[in-house]
Amino acid sequence: MLYTEQVIKHFKKPHNQGVIKNADAIGQKGNLACGDVMKIYLKIGKKKNGHESENFIKNIKFETLGCAAAIAVSSALTDRIKGMTFKEALAVNKDDIVNDLGGLPAPKIHCSMLGLEALHEAIENYDKK
Ligand code: FES
Repeated sequence: MLYTEQVIKHFKKPHNQGVIKNADAIGQKGNLACGDVMKIYLKIGKKKNGHESENFIKNIKFETLGCAAAIAVSSALTDRIKGMTFKEALAVNKDDIVNDLGGLPAPKIHCSMLGLEALHEAIENYDKK
């Protein structure tokens, strides 16, 4: 399987690429097998949910040093989770991202984990604050 049109589009013009200065949380993950690295920056807001308020992802940016699939995954992931509460964002799995991209070649499926792992770490880091 070759890269889909969606992968190529996200790779050529990634969405949400860059740094958030004064980010509320940062997560970074590397893939030991290939050496690729992804860093996620989050800006967090509060959403009212009845009497409670919930954290949500107001803004998200990424920096990825990696393969075409890792960059496309980062772009699609950040598009999908912007505006989500932490609970919603943590429920997103690799199949959601692979589907958003119209599929990934089998040897590249592992690349979809990098973004999710960096996101989970950023949320964990925020919760530890
Ligand atoms: Fe390393 Fe894709 S080959 S994340």
